[in-house]
Amino acid sequence: MIQSSPEFKKYKQDFDETIDEFKDNINDIVQKGADINTDELLNQATALIKDTSTVSGFFHILHNMRQYDDLTFAHCMNVALISNVLAGWLGMSKEDIETATLCGLLHDIGKLSIPDHIIKKPSQLTDEEYEIVKTHTVAGFNLLKDKDISIHIKNSALMHHEKCDGSGYPLGIDGSKIDPFAKIVGIADVYEAMTAARVYRGPLCPFQVIDIFEKEGLQKYEAAYILKFLENVVMTYMNHRVRLSDGTKGDIVFINHARLSRPMIKSGSNFIDLTKTPNIYIEQII
Ligand SMILES: [Fe+2]
Ligand SMILES: [Fe+2]
Repeated sequence: MIQSSPEFKKYKQDFDETIDEFKDNINDIVQKGADINTDELLNQATALIKDTSTVSGFFHILHNMRQYDDLTFAHCMNVALISNVLAGWLGMSKEDIETATLCGLLHDIGKLSIPDHIIKKPSQLTDEEYEIVKTHTVAGFNLLKDKDISIHIKNSALMHHEKCDGSGYPLGIDGSKIDPFAKIVGIADVYEAMTAARVYRGPLCPFQVIDIFEKEGLQKYEAAYILKFLENVVMTYMNHRVRLSDGTKGDIVFINHARLSRPMIKSGSNFIDLTKTPNIYIEQII
C-alpha cells in the first residue's frame, strides 16, 4: 500500500538521484584522491530524511524500499540514515548526529577496493573470499586516514565490524576500545543488511530481525545503544497491523520490553501474547 503513496514515490525518486550524486563523489575520492566535502555529503543524506514527515515514516519507507536495490552505495546511504536516527534517539548533539551520519556514509568505502566479482557474488562466499571481504575495513581506513575529516569517521571505517564481546574483525578488540561512533554504525549496518533482500531470501520483517538480534545475544553490542535502537524500532510499529506466521491478522497493542520481537497482538476480540506462543511469530507488517 505504502509503495503507491505519493510520499513513497517521491522518496524513491529522491533516493535514486541522491545515490547517483553520492556515487560520483565517492568515486572521485577513491579514484582521483579528491578531498572529502563533508558538507555536501551531509546535505545529500539529510535532505532525504527531512522530506519524510516523521522518523517512524522513515522506517516504514526504508522497509518498503528493500526489494529495490542492495548495492554498496544504497547500503551506505541507508546505514547513514539509520545512524542519524539512532544518534538522535541517543540524545546526541547536532554535531555528533552529523558525524554519525558521515560515519555511516563512508563506513564501507573500502569495499570499492574489493574485486567486483566477490562483492557482487550472488552465492555464498568461500572462506578465502570472505577473508578478502574482511579487508575492506583496513582498506577503508587507509583511504580516509590522511583526509581532513573527523577521527570518528576513520575509526568507523576500521571498526564497524568489531563486536563488544571481542568476536568481531579486523582487530578483535572489545567494547572498551571500539569507537562509540563505530558501535552506532555497526548496529545500523547489521540492521540494514538483515532487512535487505538477498538472493536466497526476501527482505526480513523488522520483528524477525529483532528476534535474530535477541537470539544472537545483545552483548555483542553496546547495551544502551542496542536497547534504545530496538525499543524505538518496535515503537515505530505500535498500532500497526501485522500478519502472524499462522495466518492470523491483528494489531500490535502492547510491547513486551523483555522480548521486543514478541509484542501483544489484538486480533478481533482476542489478545495474543507472542511471548507465550513460541511457534508463532510476526511474519509481515501489512
Ligand atoms: Fe562493512
Ligand atoms: Fe556495511
